[in-house]
Amino acid sequence: MYHSALLTILFLLSVPYGVYSGNILVFPVDGSHWINMKVLITELHSKGHNITVIRSSSSLYIKEESPYYKCITVDVGPFDDDFFANFVAVSLQVRQHQKSSWGKIMFGMEVLKKFSEIHEKICNMTSKIFENETMMKSLQQAKFDMVLADPAMGGGVLLAHKLGLPLVFNVRWTMLGEGHFAIAPSPLSYVPVPGAELTDKMTFTQRVINVLTYFITYYQQVRHFGQPYQAFCQKYFGPDVDYFSLLQNADIWLMRNDFTFEFPRPTMPNVVYMGGFQCMPSKPLPDDLEKFVQSSGKHGVIIMSLGSLFGHLEMDIADEIAAAFAQLPQKVIWRHTGPRPSTLGNNTLLVSWMPQNDLLGHTKTKVFVAHGGTNGVQEAIYHGVPILGLPIAFDQPDNLSRMREKGTARVLDISELDRSVFLEALKEMLYNPSYREKMQKLSRLHHDQPIKPLDRAVFWIEYVIRNGGAPHLRTQSFRMSWITYHSVDVMLTLLGALLISGWLTFLLLRCLCFKVIFNKKIKPQL
Ligand SMILES: *[C@@H]1O[C@H](CO)[C@@H](O)[C@H](O)[C@H]1NC(C)=O
Ligand SMILES: *[C@@H]1O[C@H](CO)[C@@H](O)[C@H](O)[C@H]1NC(C)=O
Ligand SMILES: *[C@@H]1O[C@H](CO)[C@@H](O)[C@H](O)[C@H]1NC(C)=O
Ligand SMILES: *[C@@H]1O[C@H](CO)[C@@H](O)[C@H](O)[C@H]1NC(C)=O
Ligand SMILES: *[C@@H]1O[C@H](CO)[C@@H](O)[C@H](O)[C@H]1NC(C)=O
Repeated sequence: MYHSALLTILFLLSVPYGVYSGNILVFPVDGSHWINMKVLITELHSKGHNITVIRSSSSLYIKEESPYYKCITVDVGPFDDDFFANFVAVSLQVRQHQKSSWGKIMFGMEVLKKFSEIHEKICNMTSKIFENETMMKSLQQAKFDMVLADPAMGGGVLLAHKLGLPLVFNVRWTMLGEGHFAIAPSPLSYVPVPGAELTDKMTFTQRVINVLTYFITYYQQVRHFGQPYQAFCQKYFGPDVDYFSLLQNADIWLMRNDFTFEFPRPTMPNVVYMGGFQCMPSKPLPDDLEKFVQSSGKHGVIIMSLGSLFGHLEMDIADEIAAAFAQLPQKVIWRHTGPRPSTLGNNTLLVSWMPQNDLLGHTKTKVFVAHGGTNGVQEAIYHGVPILGLPIAFDQPDNLSRMREKGTARVLDISELDRSVFLEALKEMLYNPSYREKMQKLSRLHHDQPIKPLDRAVFWIEYVIRNGGAPHLRTQSFRMSWITYHSVDVMLTLLGALLISGWLTFLLLRCLCFKVIFNKKIKPQL
């Protein structure tokens, strides 16, 4: 009796959590964003969900054949990739020779233009899907449970609306800036706008800079990037549908972020933090690398990687960095693909690829020299290794400025880098224990959670599948005009009422006074 009741309970418990498998349509963003999406897809696949990924025919990163997902390939014309191939070199040059601000502005404009083009291309790709009846029919017949999208580009938002499906975001950026700015109240007095490299404690001048940065980026993004999506909505959904409302109407926002990294700020019931979901415990190193690491003895190793895009530094900078490394007793593992620096010391090992996560998790690793890009910062937090930052582009300066503020990193300007500056910074990171202690503290905080970030993300995706969305977690704010949202109409009405009643009281009093005076005036005469 007891036994069968237990079995029933176990069965009931397993139905919603274990057995159910969903059918998920994924609209990813190509390039480095895909790395993160793939982690999520692999995990969902291992839980028994069916995954279908939409990719463009010109995609270099999203492979058509995969054991984890099926593909729908949309044929879009080739894209001029020269700009992005050169982008890295140019942004490095701009960063290195920061003297000319005119050059910087021109470069900024160029980047904006290129990004607008990508957004337009995504719209073109989405309209290809919308207008291909066979494809639309097969999408409708596939009976998807939900759409998983990265809202840095808007295709997934449009497709989810068209198919009438619940929408879950894997998000850090939207066209309205950092994810939170699109959905949660963000008082500019203590929420720093990414790009300004500020913190949550701002002086008056910094607050002015924060507000200006906000309006400039908002204008740029809504105008340049939002425009093709707005036009798209007009064309396919009618004049009443606004792209940004569709965006804000998403069911769950899986934020690639958490409060070990982010400054405390207001958030929303449908925002789920999964910062560090891509981090794994480290595995043993390959034999030769392990031997090299062990040869460092009590001094330990320094690892340096500026990411896959920035492997190639200008020769003079690489020489300065190598010269500084050569003066240290530590061993150095440096991911470097350019020509061999002439000043390279015999303690430095150049590699074209390294198992970054496994090295960060190694007990001998003392310092991580990094650019603050995808995964690097999160992995360093996960393993508790302090960072010496050399930011180059995008939100990297901002990423590292957050770490500097928490006392877990030092940030150097690559345009002012020479061997003595770099050596001094390295020595401080190595011999001042406070950086390591603070990073280890942050790491402990990050690990002290009831459920692992990746499991939390999967739970909420399955939650949306089980319940057909999460409308009860969405606020109504996005349906409102600016005036309603800020209660300007209510304030004006109340103010009006106050003024009118004040005026009436005044009239009444004047009338009464008049009577009294009048009466008084009459009395003596009698
Ligand atoms: C997942 O795909 C397999 C093979 O294509 C199919 O048999 C199964 O019914 C699908 N499951 C769902 C929930 O769509
Ligand atoms: C998008 O499509 C329009 C009309 O077909 C075309 O003029 C435009 O060049 C396309 N944009 C891109 C970036 O491919
Ligand atoms: C429409 O989509 C199907 C696949 O679903 C594809 O085979 C076909 O070529 C597409 N048609 C056009 C005009 O792009
Ligand atoms: C490495 O270089 C240092 C000084 O440049 C030298 O003293 C040392 O013997 C060298 N070690 C090896 C193994 O070559
Ligand atoms: C900045 O850090 C966040 C969180 O670690 C990461 O998602 C993002 O990719 C980083 N920025 C860049 C430009 O790599």
